[in-house]
Amino acid sequence: MCGIIGYVGDRGDTEVLEVLMDGLSGLEYRGYDSAGVAVANSSIAVRKREGDISALESALDGDDVDGTAGIGHTRWSTHGPPSDVNAHPHTDDDDRVAVVHNGIIENYQPLRDDLESRGYEFESETDTEVVPHLIADALADGCDRERAFRRAIDRLEGSYAIAAVFSGCETVYAARDSSPLVLGIGDDGHYLASDVPAFIEYTDRVIYLDDGEFATIEPDSVVVTDADGTVVDTSIETIEWDPEDAGKSGYDHYMLKEIHEQPTAIRQCLHERVVELEREIAVDSVASLSVPDRVQLVACGTSYHAALYGTRLLRERGVPATAFLASEYDVDAVPVDRETLVIGVTQSGETADTMTALREANSVGATTLAVTNVVGSSAARECDRAMYVRAGPEIGVAATKTFVSQQIALVVLASELTGEYDVDLVGALRDLPGQLQSVLDDSRARTVAEEYLDADAYFFIGRSYNAPVALEGALKMKEITYKHAEGFAAGELKHGPLALVTDRTPVFALVTEGANPTKTIGNVKEVETRGAPVVAVTDGCSDVERYADFVLEVPETHPALAPVLANVQLQLVSYWVANDLGRSIDKPRNLAKSVTVE
Ligand code: F6R
Repeated sequence: MCGIIGYVGDRGDTEVLEVLMDGLSGLEYRGYDSAGVAVANSSIAVRKREGDISALESALDGDDVDGTAGIGHTRWSTHGPPSDVNAHPHTDDDDRVAVVHNGIIENYQPLRDDLESRGYEFESETDTEVVPHLIADALADGCDRERAFRRAIDRLEGSYAIAAVFSGCETVYAARDSSPLVLGIGDDGHYLASDVPAFIEYTDRVIYLDDGEFATIEPDSVVVTDADGTVVDTSIETIEWDPEDAGKSGYDHYMLKEIHEQPTAIRQCLHERVVELEREIAVDSVASLSVPDRVQLVACGTSYHAALYGTRLLRERGVPATAFLASEYDVDAVPVDRETLVIGVTQSGETADTMTALREANSVGATTLAVTNVVGSSAARECDRAMYVRAGPEIGVAATKTFVSQQIALVVLASELTGEYDVDLVGALRDLPGQLQSVLDDSRARTVAEEYLDADAYFFIGRSYNAPVALEGALKMKEITYKHAEGFAAGELKHGPLALVTDRTPVFALVTEGANPTKTIGNVKEVETRGAPVVAVTDGCSDVERYADFVLEVPETHPALAPVLANVQLQLVSYWVANDLGRSIDKPRNLAKSVTVE
């Protein structure tokens, strides 16, 4: 996930840069590994820097970049680590065209091989850099600029929102497929961006591009065409957002937005990897790792719940795996040696407890692997290997889409590590984003939240794969609603917590295929007998509906993936309870996004 901005207009020379920099600030939530701009005049001036936008600002200080058409980019790394060279925009060998891109070009390697074999020189490790070279190749064949841009785009497979400027030209060319792109229609020029916050302070009139469409943006015109070049009839919409809220894309909170981004997060996490699984090869970060004697997962909070889930996946494939709270990990007390693989599960890659555990594991010679969302984070740098979950930046303090992405990454990892490729599971992974979307579209979580807003406490129970999700459901409820909530492996209820169950403590029961539904229903009956309201989160595998006051449905899937869908229902219940209670959802009291103290 990256952010792109483009502007063409007659605000006066120096202001192009100002518009681009404002735009990048409005998009920084989409990535902050590096930032860059290109402004076209008789030549193209490109400025780019690793780091957040302030690094680019410092680099531009006193720089008199001018022109009437420009593009900018803020990066969230996917191919190649954060660096000045990998920052966008990217140019062709002669600096005639500059390109910014959000998305992933799946066939970049064969394109790059072909271009390099014909003498084109690449500077970066990015997938994006093939685009300016493809455009240059088309120009060399005699195409005009627009034709060259289209010919390059036609060669791409994958997802993209792309914008390009040419030297000696006042036009921005753009195209989209499976990555967002919106045009802004202003009085003093026209804009394009990944998202409205980039230009909302200049105009609230927008045109949303559809997949397969192209745009040609000039100071006094905007033309949208389809893949054949036929002009598309577009309608201009007026956005009613407060600029302050714009980063939330119309959602009231980042958390809700990020919950809704989960289908995309899964697709990004699976990108290429699902093909690897189908081919039964491990070409991810675990390639060449032999099956370890034992695996230890270290993590905190939500990531620990993902680690518990990962542990079960590995054990089912015959690998002795244990999850440790990172703050309790002690290499002297547990056997850790060179044959041990220690996996740090950490969305930020910076959590102090997790880093300490990983450093200890490193110090005794274990192989370490970071499963993280942040390219170039401490965990990624200090571990022997890194596997990126690719959820995109998460702004809400409560982890949502990063948890789902961690679950998916661990499914992939367990298969690759053990060489066990379950055809049904791989098929189910492909269907999962669509199924998650249907949960988001049809959820009754808001009604459930309203019904039990005054509860004394909330309990969550589940067995097998669902047990970690019961813990996660309770953690989410606690941190954003400030209400008492506990999660249990369902069998544990009768060993103590049952004493807390009353008619004012709703119990959320996770009952899905392959996760001991019959036994969980036994626990449901125990709480029902004590007068507790029951909310069943279920795929319809049993008759739990008979004992439930509410049912939150999830589609049928592979048993190992049902908890991924069930968790989304619980996220939504917590969100709506917190919303109805007027809590500070994105920044809950006392909590921080990245905990860098032990
Ligand atoms: C809860 C939450 C925290 C984090 C924990 C570990 O919503 O976000 O419990 O999971 O602080 O953080 P990372 O994953 O960055 O190591």
